[in-house]
Amino acid sequence: MLLKNGTLVTSDKTFLADLLMVGEKIAQIGEKIDAPGHEILDVSGKLILPGGVDPHVHFDLPMFGTVSSDDHYTGTKAAAFGGTTTVIDFVSFDFPTLRQSVEVWREKAAKAAVDYAAHMNLTRFDAQIAAEIPRLTDLGISSLKVFTAYNNRLRLADGDIFRVLRMAKEAGMLVLLHAENGDVIEALTAEALAAGHTEPVWHARTRPAWGAVEATLRACSLAAQADAPIYIVHMNAAGEVDMLRYARERGVRAMGETCPQYLLFTEDDLRRPDGAKWICSPPVRTAADNARLWQGLSDGTIQTVGTDHCPFFFDGTKPILYDGEPVAIPGKELGRDDFTKIPNGLPGVQDRLPVLWTTGIGSGKWTPQQFVALTSTNPARIFGLYPRKGALLPGSDADLVIWDPNRKVNYGVARSHQRTDYNLYEGWELTGYPEKVFLRGRLIVDGERWLGEVGRGQFLTRQTSGEFL
Ligand code: URP
Ligand code: ZN
Ligand code: ZN
Repeated sequence: MLLKNGTLVTSDKTFLADLLMVGEKIAQIGEKIDAPGHEILDVSGKLILPGGVDPHVHFDLPMFGTVSSDDHYTGTKAAAFGGTTTVIDFVSFDFPTLRQSVEVWREKAAKAAVDYAAHMNLTRFDAQIAAEIPRLTDLGISSLKVFTAYNNRLRLADGDIFRVLRMAKEAGMLVLLHAENGDVIEALTAEALAAGHTEPVWHARTRPAWGAVEATLRACSLAAQADAPIYIVHMNAAGEVDMLRYARERGVRAMGETCPQYLLFTEDDLRRPDGAKWICSPPVRTAADNARLWQGLSDGTIQTVGTDHCPFFFDGTKPILYDGEPVAIPGKELGRDDFTKIPNGLPGVQDRLPVLWTTGIGSGKWTPQQFVALTSTNPARIFGLYPRKGALLPGSDADLVIWDPNRKVNYGVARSHQRTDYNLYEGWELTGYPEKVFLRGRLIVDGERWLGEVGRGQFLTRQTSGEFL
């Protein structure tokens, strides 16, 4: 197919051109391309963006006796409707070996409708696991997530994080870090429960921003001592941005990701009667934190915006219709009487691009190039997917979004393909929306029409991680 008269937006420029797709790839970009025999689509007045790359999603993730409500098909279908054609999911370390955990995840993920890669959750560490880490790259996984929170469950000791950082560096892998202070969270949570506090806002009060700030600096200093790169996931607090900047200014190869919820919502949302909808870890914070995170994105301290998409139903006792079938999955109601039992996580994989176009570009904070860099090109570069993904270049996968920058949409759960019963942006007026989405040259979203298929997504193997940005 030949796309005529488009305005192409990449991470560094915006220009008028035609774009020719042949098979699964971009074949040619230029003025007045003549390609007899190819179907022509005139996209005058529309933008052509590289498909979004979401570096942080959790599909089919078991938590608190239930499971995140999008599986690899529904979650990737929702992603596509929002203009995202590549996602990076997390493998839970639920089996004795890393390899077994990856194999089980591969089976579950095979129904994905867009392309996908994986990070490994490294939530245990001993000599045998250490020996297995470098072999993950043979399985196409070159990034590991470690935690400084969730004591006795997911957390690693600082010394083990240091060892993992050194090993990862040797193997060409990147360590992602969830930065909170597990010990303080344990103490505050026990006190809050003993005092009879049950409401959602206590989730935030028991996970203070200072814990995230301190853990971010600790992570950067461990990376400095290991002489290894590090990527701080879901940054949420102003002080974290300051710590990341402090480390970067001193030559530490530290990078960061934030998510729309940390830019757009605050603890006040947790105080609403339906506050459980906003429960995620780390928690949403204050308007001052939102502002500092926006600034960190604009000034290059933070490199990516992912979603941490990990949806649960608000009321999983009441079925919704999804693809014509009734579905009910236990969700936030599990914690009606105890905030510690509310499954942690939010929907967002479909919302990310339209919401950020409206709030980032509509407000004048970002240029369209910055939007593409933060949501597509930078995650692709950091995680070793560039230039196959995140680029408009001859030879890149033809993952394209035909974007209508003027389209106004009243957004909410009715428009969303995320498999849950609520949307955080209910009733928001969005300007700028995907019109058509191509995955490797194939049209998979045409307005409200779904043309994608179960299992059409490819597993993207990554033998090494990518660049330091
Ligand atoms: O609340 C969240 N974010 N759940 C997903 C797990 C994580 O730590 O990213
Ligand atoms: Zn996390
Ligand atoms: Zn996450």
